[in-house]
Amino acid sequence: MKPVCLITGAGGRLGQDLCHALQEDYELVATYRSTIPNIPSQFQRPLEGADEPENESALSDVPAYLVQADLTCREDVKRVVEVTLARYGRIDALINAAADIKFHGNLRDLWQADDYPQSQMLLNSIVPMQLASAIYQYCWKDQPDENARWNRSVVNVSSISGLYVYEERGQAFYGVSKAALNMLTLYLSLELAPYSVRVNAICPSRFTGMAATRRVTETIRNLLTGDSTGTIVTKIP
Ligand SMILES: NC(=O)c1ccc[n+]([C@@H]2O[C@H](COP(=O)([O-])OP(=O)(O)OC[C@H]3O[C@@H](n4cnc5c(N)ncnc54)[C@H](OP(=O)(O)O)[C@@H]3O)[C@@H](O)[C@H]2O)c1
Repeated sequence: MKPVCLITGAGGRLGQDLCHALQEDYELVATYRSTIPNIPSQFQRPLEGADEPENESALSDVPAYLVQADLTCREDVKRVVEVTLARYGRIDALINAAADIKFHGNLRDLWQADDYPQSQMLLNSIVPMQLASAIYQYCWKDQPDENARWNRSVVNVSSISGLYVYEERGQAFYGVSKAALNMLTLYLSLELAPYSVRVNAICPSRFTGMAATRRVTETIRNLLTGDSTGTIVTKIP
């Protein structure tokens, strides 16, 4: 059986590329909020095979199982983990790619703003930890041997904005949310090390084209298959 990988933000630029690149080697559970990932999933196969007796097996063979979720809702975080475990019985890799990537404005104007800073910090920094914690509570805490055997790990998709201060207007909270994610990655790697679960982060610069996106994807793949933990990858080949 292939390892089971849970990917958030699967409808986004990076998420879609991750799904395409990893579908051969992993059973994918791909979460999206509003943009449905353009990948083969249970949304196509049941319709194609609706009248065929083998429909059930076709459904179990889909490369990606899609789950809609707004991850800023705690109940959705829980449901995503429960659905994944109900379907596959285990989770071997978690890639936290979902993020609010907007630059929301100047700190000077914060007094007039709505609650975007809280929402961005929640999604970009805390939700990745909530997901990892939920998986730990449901299974990883009782499975140190399986964790080692399946080389289980978390990859948090951070950003270069979490490492440096840029003058470009309005990215203070985005940058801080990613800086927090970097630190949380390091703390989580310490907490999960006794259970043989690795935790790393990657800090890409801006990627727009397909080739640049694929380089980020391949760096994430190397983190999944490697043996490092507590690493913040800042150099992407
Ligand atoms: N693109 C870059 O140049 C760049 C550079 C450095 C780091 N990064 C990081 O790389 C990751 C992927 O970036 P990207 O360019 O692929 O971004 P993207 O295309 O905007 O994808 C982000 C995804 O997050 C999802 N999302 C937003 N709010 C959500 C919520 N409340 N619940 C669940 N999902 C939610 C979005 O879903 P919807 O379909 O609903 O919008 C979207 O599919 C992010 O962590 C980003 O910070 C990107």
